Amino acid sequence: MKNALILKGQTLSFSENPFDVGPENSTKHYTDGAVLIENGKIQNVGPSEEIIGNSGNVTVVDYGSHLITAGFIDCHAHYPQIPIIASYGEQLLEWLEKYTFPVESRFCDKKYARSVADLFLKECLKNGITSSSVYATVHQVSVDAFFEATSELGLRMACGKVMMDRNAPDSLCDTPQIAYDQSKELIKKWHGIGRNLYAITPRFAPTSSQQQLEIAGALWKEYPSVLMQTHLAENSKEISWVTQLFPDLPDYFGVYEKFGLVGQGAIFGHGIHLNEREKSALQESSSSIAHCPTSNMFIGSGLFDISKLNSDGRPITIGLGTDIAGGSSLSMFATMKTAYETAQLCNYSLHPAQAWYLATIGSASAMKLENCVGNLLPGMEADIIIINLCSTPLIQQRIEKAYDIWDILFAQIILADERAIRATYVDGKCVFNNNNSE
Ligand code: GUN
Ligand code: ZN
Repeated sequence: MKNALILKGQTLSFSENPFDVGPENSTKHYTDGAVLIENGKIQNVGPSEEIIGNSGNVTVVDYGSHLITAGFIDCHAHYPQIPIIASYGEQLLEWLEKYTFPVESRFCDKKYARSVADLFLKECLKNGITSSSVYATVHQVSVDAFFEATSELGLRMACGKVMMDRNAPDSLCDTPQIAYDQSKELIKKWHGIGRNLYAITPRFAPTSSQQQLEIAGALWKEYPSVLMQTHLAENSKEISWVTQLFPDLPDYFGVYEKFGLVGQGAIFGHGIHLNEREKSALQESSSSIAHCPTSNMFIGSGLFDISKLNSDGRPITIGLGTDIAGGSSLSMFATMKTAYETAQLCNYSLHPAQAWYLATIGSASAMKLENCVGNLLPGMEADIIIINLCSTPLIQQRIEKAYDIWDILFAQIILADERAIRATYVDGKCVFNNNNSE
């Protein structure tokens, strides 16, 4: 077999959605399993004896009892905010003014943008994140810098130029026409080139005029295969501001509805404070929510009650976002942990299968990639991570007492960090190898 490789270890894949069926019935787990990869695609997953026995002379990388699973997917992040991660003391609107806008104004410099993109992507791979939906800045070159970096690594990533023509510093404002022209140019240059995907990116309703939102909707109509990403109902002051700016519209989601910015492939960051109409309209339009728990805590936005969106016959596609750098960690373990803690405060016990699903298939679905990445299934692209389930003595002694795979994974969610990521494979190739994590 050409360009073939077998990864041997424990394997975990989802066969069902754990929010629909009981979490225990949602997965396939082989304690002695293997994954056969050929030409960047997963060919087969199963018991190692079977996979290795049927594959002839294929190289086997033996990861012992480590877990082989799909790479994590972050469906909401801002790469230009990496330099201001862990900035003290402000909530959303003040945080944007004080920290975010000043750093984003530096991304007119392509060299600087590339250096930050490189750091962001290196951190993603170290943390086992293989795909993300990413905001650049208002500068066209900030998108070029990002996609040049992802193309070199062969990553499946989405990114878009932020559209913003009011309520921001002049140096960060475009116009409706410039936003349209530059976004269109970027779509033609990058969307579907290699593994890159474009996302039309109006920052949020307060920083776009009606004309700009209208033109963003028109552009999406012209290019329906691209994604659309923005922010929604994150912070109460932000919501009051939207009510003032759009007094004739029923609510925040109604703004995006009016301008044709809802539907499959629309990823709304946060969505913490939605009214009942907005929840129903979100579901009916097949739009998705990027749940960003570390950000919701860090900038004090509130508790996203996942049970209220996934029950009452109202299942909404939800993925997990780090929201770097409103979010304070690029670890999906930390993100799942905070999702669990947030759910606890809403009287809901988020099962580890559900948290893991959100961090992989949930995010993939939000990005319309559920048939490509986010699971270990034949035919899917081989974006795979290897997790050392005993990466620290504390975790090891906890795992020795674990009663099943979900107890083991729950302990990872609560206790693990980047030290647990033993290796990251992208498109079937190892792009990160942590030799310290034996
Ligand atoms: N709302 C508008 N812009 C932003 C941003 O950069 N981060 C977060 N968390 N919320 C936003
Ligand atoms: Zn955000």
